[in-house]
Amino acid sequence: MSDLRLGIAGLGTVGVGVVKLVNDRQMAYNQMFGTTMSITAVSARTKGAERGVSLDGYAWFDDARELAKSPDIDVFVELIGGDEGIAKEAVINALEAGKHVVTANKALIAKHGVMLAKLAEANNVALMFEAAVAGGIPIIRVMSQSVVANEITHLAGIMNGTCNYILTTMEKEGRDFADVLADAQAKGYAEADPTFDVGGIDTAHKLAILTSLAFGTEVNFDSIYIEGIEKITAADIRNADAMGYRIKLLGMALKTETGIEQRVHPALVSKSSPIAAVDDVNNAVYIESKMLDGIMLEGKGAGEGPTASSVVGDILQILRGFIEPAFIMPTEKLKPYEKARMNRHEGGYYIALSVKDKVGALAAISERMAEASISIDSLIQQKAESDEGVIPVTLLTAETSEREIQDVLKKMDADGFLAAESRVIRIEKFS
Ligand SMILES: NC(=O)c1ccc[n+]([C@@H]2O[C@H](COP(=O)([O-])OP(=O)(O)OC[C@H]3O[C@@H](n4cnc5c(N)ncnc54)[C@H](OP(=O)(O)O)[C@@H]3O)[C@@H](O)[C@H]2O)c1
Repeated sequence: MSDLRLGIAGLGTVGVGVVKLVNDRQMAYNQMFGTTMSITAVSARTKGAERGVSLDGYAWFDDARELAKSPDIDVFVELIGGDEGIAKEAVINALEAGKHVVTANKALIAKHGVMLAKLAEANNVALMFEAAVAGGIPIIRVMSQSVVANEITHLAGIMNGTCNYILTTMEKEGRDFADVLADAQAKGYAEADPTFDVGGIDTAHKLAILTSLAFGTEVNFDSIYIEGIEKITAADIRNADAMGYRIKLLGMALKTETGIEQRVHPALVSKSSPIAAVDDVNNAVYIESKMLDGIMLEGKGAGEGPTASSVVGDILQILRGFIEPAFIMPTEKLKPYEKARMNRHEGGYYIALSVKDKVGALAAISERMAEASISIDSLIQQKAESDEGVIPVTLLTAETSEREIQDVLKKMDADGFLAAESRVIRIEKFS
C-alpha cells in the first residue's frame, strides 16, 4: 500500500497538534500497519506565521479550497472551524474531488452533517469527525462500533470544558458567574467572546451529532432547546449542594412518546451520580442503553494533544481501510427527526424564588404549589435580605411536568409576592 497523503487546512491549536503527532509517530504507524501517512500540503490564513513546528517540505496553499482539490492529497484534514464559508466550501470541494475528509469541526457537522455524509457516500470516501465531540474522548467510535449493538435510551454529556471549569470554580470558591468568567478569560480557558460556550451553543453542536448516532435520525441542531449557564448564581450552587446536588451544564437526548427530546441546560445532578464528579475542564458522556445500563467516558474534551489524538485516530482508520458511513448507516436509512414537545418534559425542579417579605407571601406560594399538586421535596428559606425586604426561598419539587411548573410560576408572579424573576433548574436523574 502506498503512503496516505494528507493535506492539512488550519494550523492553529489542533492543526499544529496534528502535524506534531504525525511527525512523532510516523515510524510507529509504519511498524504497526506496514504503511504510513505523510503530510504533503498545508493551508492557513497567514503564511510565514511562527507556529512552533517546521512546515518545511510541505506545499503551501493560500486557499484551503484549492488544497482540498489538490491531486497530491488523499485525505483533506479540515481544522479551520466555522459552519459556513471557507471550511464548508473546502470540505465540499474535497468530497467532490474524491478525497477522504477528517474534521474536528462540530459546528459544520451539526449544521451540514447529513448533506456532507451524502456527498461522501456519492464519492465513496470517508467523512470522519471523532474530534468534533468531546475532543480526546473516543465517543463516536464507541457509539458507532460498540454500543450500536443495543438500543440507546438516554444520553447526557458534559461537553464544554469552559462551562464545566466555570461551574466547578464557582462551587469551590463560592464566587459568582461573571467574576469566574473574567478569570477564565484571563487564563485563556474562555474565549474573549464566550457566548458560544457559556450560552450552550457549543454543547448543542456536539449533542446534535450524538443524537443522530444514538437514535439513527437525521442531525437536527435547530430543534435543540438551549439554555446557558449565565444565570446560575453562587447561591444556586450552594443551595443545590445543601440539598445533595451539583450543577452541571448538560447536553441530553432521550426518546419520549412524542419524539426525541434534545436539551442543553444547566441541571442538578445527584452528588452520587458519576457525572457529578466530572470537574474542571474535563468532559464526559454518559450513555444508558438496554443491555449495558449506564456507561460513562470521561477525559479531556479539548486542547492540542487530546484533539490531535482523535483526528489522527480517524486518519489511521482510513489508512487501515475502515471506511464506514459517517452516521453509522447510509444517509437514506436515517429517520427524519421528530421533535418531542418540551412542555411534556417530566422531572423534578429546583426553583429559586425571591419572595417579598410580606404577610401571607409564603402561605400563598405553598397554596399555589398544592393547587397544582406539585409536592415539595425540600425547602430552604434564607433570612430576609434586610434593606430590600426579600426572602430567598429555594424549593426542590418532586417529579412534575414542565408545563405545570411554568403555569404555577405564572400564577405566583400574578399574586404579586415575587420581587424578581424566578430561576428554574431541571433535576436530571440517572439510573
Ligand atoms: N482547540 C480545541 O481544543 C478544539 C477541540 C475540539 C475541536 N476543535 C475544532 O477544531 C477546529 C480548529 O480549532 P483550533 O482551536 O485549532 O482553531 P484555531 O487555533 O483558531 O486555528 C484555526 C486555524 O484556521 C486557520 N484559518 C482561519 N481562517 C482561514 C482561512 N480563511 N483559510 C485558511 N485557514 C484559515 C487559521 O490560520 P492562521 O493561523 O494563519 O490565522 C488557524 O491556523 C475548529 O473547528 C474547532 O471547533 C478544537
